[in-house]
Amino acid sequence: MINVRRVDIHGVPFIGFRGTFSSKKGLPRLEEDLIAVNLMKSKGVYAKVFTDDGRVARVRLNDFKHMSLLPSLHPDSFTQSFVSGSILKKAERLLENYPIILARAQKMQEAPINWGGLPFDFNFCDAMVVATADYPNGKWEFGERGALYPFEQMNIHPSAVVLHYGQGIFEGMKVFYSKQGRLVAFRPQDNAARMQRGAERLCMNPIPTDFLIEAVKATVIGNKRLLPPYGVGASMYVRPFEFGSGPKLGVKPAAEDTLCIFASPVGPYFKGGLTPITLLVESNSRRSAHGIVGNIKAGGNYAPSMLVAKEAKKQHPEVSEVIYLSSDGQNKIEEVGAANFFAIEEESDGRIALIRPRLTGTILPGITRDSVIKLAKAFGYSVMEKDIAIETVMRGETIVGAFCTGTAAVISPIGKIIMENGSEAKEVSFNGGTVHPVAEKLYHALTALQVEDWDNEALKDLPKEFIDEVKKEWVYVLEE
Ligand code: PLP
Ligand code: COI
Repeated sequence: MINVRRVDIHGVPFIGFRGTFSSKKGLPRLEEDLIAVNLMKSKGVYAKVFTDDGRVARVRLNDFKHMSLLPSLHPDSFTQSFVSGSILKKAERLLENYPIILARAQKMQEAPINWGGLPFDFNFCDAMVVATADYPNGKWEFGERGALYPFEQMNIHPSAVVLHYGQGIFEGMKVFYSKQGRLVAFRPQDNAARMQRGAERLCMNPIPTDFLIEAVKATVIGNKRLLPPYGVGASMYVRPFEFGSGPKLGVKPAAEDTLCIFASPVGPYFKGGLTPITLLVESNSRRSAHGIVGNIKAGGNYAPSMLVAKEAKKQHPEVSEVIYLSSDGQNKIEEVGAANFFAIEEESDGRIALIRPRLTGTILPGITRDSVIKLAKAFGYSVMEKDIAIETVMRGETIVGAFCTGTAAVISPIGKIIMENGSEAKEVSFNGGTVHPVAEKLYHALTALQVEDWDNEALKDLPKEFIDEVKKEWVYVLEE
C-alpha cells in the first residue's frame, strides 16, 4: 500500500484531495468519495500525486480509494504545491463548468467564520505537523517533505502501543494575534517541559523544546487563515500530542513514537466565559492517587472522567464539571475536571488571600495556575499553597470566592458548589453566585498579558519589573 500524502489541483479557488491507492494490482479502486470527487473522476481528471516514498506520479482520480476532498493548505504555507499544464487547465475548466465543485471548495475555503460563536471543539484545521522518533536513539525527525502536512487522517498500526496500553500524552496551548500585531504563543516552553516529563514517565522519547516550538510554529503558520483576529473573543488552540506509534503486543514501550500537532480556533471552554459555573463534588471516583500519573497529561487520565462528568450532569443539569477530592481519605480538593482549583479566602484582618491545593504528585501542575500565582503575587495578594478540605469550603465561612484555571478554561469563576450527602444535596454559593472581583481582576489581567495589551487598565497596578518579565519569559513571538 502506498500512502498518498497529497494530490493538489490548482483551480480558482484551488482544492486539494487526499487519498490512498494500492499499487499491487495495477489500478486501484475507489472506495469512498464525494459528489464533487465523483464528478471530477467521471471527467477523467488526472492529478499529481506525492507518495510517502518520495515519488511523484500522474494518476487518474478514478484510481483512488479512500478519497476525500479537503481544503488545500493556505497559500502562505510552505508545503503548497501545484499541478501544472494540461492537468491544471482541465481542472480549471471543470471547476468553471461544474459549480457544484466550486461551491464545495468555496464552502470549505471561504466560509466566513463566526469567531464569536465558536464552541470549544475541533472546529477547523488546514494543516498539521507529524514527526517521529525511534527508540532508543530518540532523534526526532520530520518527514521527507518537511514538518507540515495538509490536515488528514493518520495511518496507524493496529497494534500501536497507544491504542492498547494508552501510551500517549497531549498538551494544550493558546496562540493569539496580539495587540502589537504579532503572532504570539503563551509559555510554550512550559508546555514542552511538561510534555518531556510526561514522555519520560510513559517511556517515550522526550521532544526537545526547540523541536516542539518549531513544530508549533509550522502548525500555526499552516493554519494562519483560521487564526482569530485580535479582539474577537476566540483563540487558536494548539494541540500537540505524542504517542507510542510502533507496534507491540506485550506491555512494552513502542519502538517508535509519533508527534502530531494540529490547531483549531476555539471559543470558551465553559459556556459564557466569565459567567460563574456550578460544580458538583465527586464523592465516589478519584482522578488520581499517589504514585499514579495525575501530574502528567496522559490521555488515560481523561477517559475515566467522562462517565463521571456525564453522571454529574444527569443528576444536576446545571453542573458544568466535578470537583475531584484526594484519595488519601482526607477529602481535600484536588482539581476541577481539566482545570486547577483556587479559593479566595478572607483573613480575619479582612485581607484577601488566594489558596490553592498543594502539588503532591496527584495534581496537574497547570501553566495557567503558575501564571495566576505569579500574577496575584505581583498584585500584592498573599498566595498560599495549602490543603483545602471540602468541608471547609462547604461551610462557606472564610472562603468568599473560588475559580478554576487552565489553558482552555482560562480563569473560570465558580458560583456554586453542590455536594451530595446521602439523599440530600448541600450547596454553597460564593459572592451571591456572581464573579468575585479578585477573579475578575485576574482574568482581565491574564488575558491582557496573553495578547500584549500592555496599556490595558487591568495591568495598571502591576510593577514594571513584572511586565518586563512577562514580555521576556511568557510571551513567545512566533512571527513578528
Ligand atoms: N488540570 C488538568 C487535569 C488539565 O487537563 C489541565 C489542562 O491542561 C489543567 C489542570 C490546567 O493546566 P494548564 O493551565 O497548563 O492548561
Ligand atoms: C487544556 O486546558 O489545555 C486542557 O487540556 C483541557 C482539555 C482536556 C480540554
